[in-house]
Amino acid sequence: MSNTQSNIPTAAAQTEHAIPMFSPTKELERIGYSNIQREMEKVLKSGTYISGPGVVVFEEAAAEYMGTKYAIAVSSGTMALELGLKAIGLSPKEPVTINANTFVAVAEAIIAAGGTPDLVDTDPNNWQMPKVATSNIVLASHLYGNASAAINSNTKLLMEDASQSFGARLNERLLGTFAPITAVSLYPTKNLSANGDAGIIFTNEEDYAQKCKALRNHGQSGYQMHQYCGTTGRMDDLLAVVLKLKLAHFDSFLQERRHLAALYTQKLKDTPLQLPVIESGLEPATNLFVVRTAHRDALKQHLTERQIGCGIHYPTPIHQMPAYTSLPWAQKHLPEAELLAQETLSLPIWVGMTEEQVSTVCNEVYRFFDTINRL
Ligand SMILES: Cc1ncc(COP(=O)(O)O)c(C=O)c1O
Repeated sequence: MSNTQSNIPTAAAQTEHAIPMFSPTKELERIGYSNIQREMEKVLKSGTYISGPGVVVFEEAAAEYMGTKYAIAVSSGTMALELGLKAIGLSPKEPVTINANTFVAVAEAIIAAGGTPDLVDTDPNNWQMPKVATSNIVLASHLYGNASAAINSNTKLLMEDASQSFGARLNERLLGTFAPITAVSLYPTKNLSANGDAGIIFTNEEDYAQKCKALRNHGQSGYQMHQYCGTTGRMDDLLAVVLKLKLAHFDSFLQERRHLAALYTQKLKDTPLQLPVIESGLEPATNLFVVRTAHRDALKQHLTERQIGCGIHYPTPIHQMPAYTSLPWAQKHLPEAELLAQETLSLPIWVGMTEEQVSTVCNEVYRFFDTINRL
């Protein structure tokens, strides 16, 4: 190959140097593709693909990890939220307080369960749902891997959404064990991630567990006997067996995320970025490494042009989404949530990301601020 040719970066070479926002493949490599293949082959050969033994074994392992009596595997995090709320039972249009900056699925699930999402503005200090009035019924989403103060003991805590904070501990207690029922998304970008759509519900209440199990399977309470109006919300065994393998590595994967987050924090401390605030007593789960700057869009563009993936969680608060403009609370002005939506940027963080890759991202952040300071 001539020199001229070798100097032209090929698509493959560019991909090699790119730093994705997230990558699930290193986790699978650590578990070992031969182990994964063996488990998946067992499922394929068994002929039972939905709610089979693979799902039951995963549920047992997940309940043991969480320290709850029950874990109910379902088809997505949204389904976990919806079925959990239906199991509790909302009265018609019952207001359920949620953070305006959480993922839209939370509002969808409350509406599907017959209630009304009632939005509260975001805490400007830690970018989470704040403590709310004690009379409010609360569905607390813990965002980015951190904890919402709304789980304090004075609140009527209906449910936790630990989708982004699975594995985080507050004063040594796992998030998701504060409410009577908790929903967790196992979407491919989450800390415990499936190779497809999946979710899980945790509870100690037998009634809720039984109802969720029935609801995910068309409300069946016995053979072809439908006690509730349910849905198709079950988990596939091919996903469950890989999730079970991942769970065995979960704590070491978490440690790695925390190490990468600590590196980012240390390296970025002299930039104008606002860095995540970790409350005392919290061991975060660092699902996302979210920073804040008024120059968010320009920084995102700078990183993207250098093949560094980054994301925004989320660019539009729920009350400003077109789907909800007809609802009364759509007219609310929630200044902190609105500002947060304009300023947050999620930097790449994933198991297997190298320290050099963190340095590359941080160097580009410094370069970006040097450039704008010179303007
Ligand atoms: C905070 C939060 N809640 C709920 C969900 C919904 O989960 P899923 O996408 O698995 O339905 C997500 C997923 O992105 C999430 O981040």
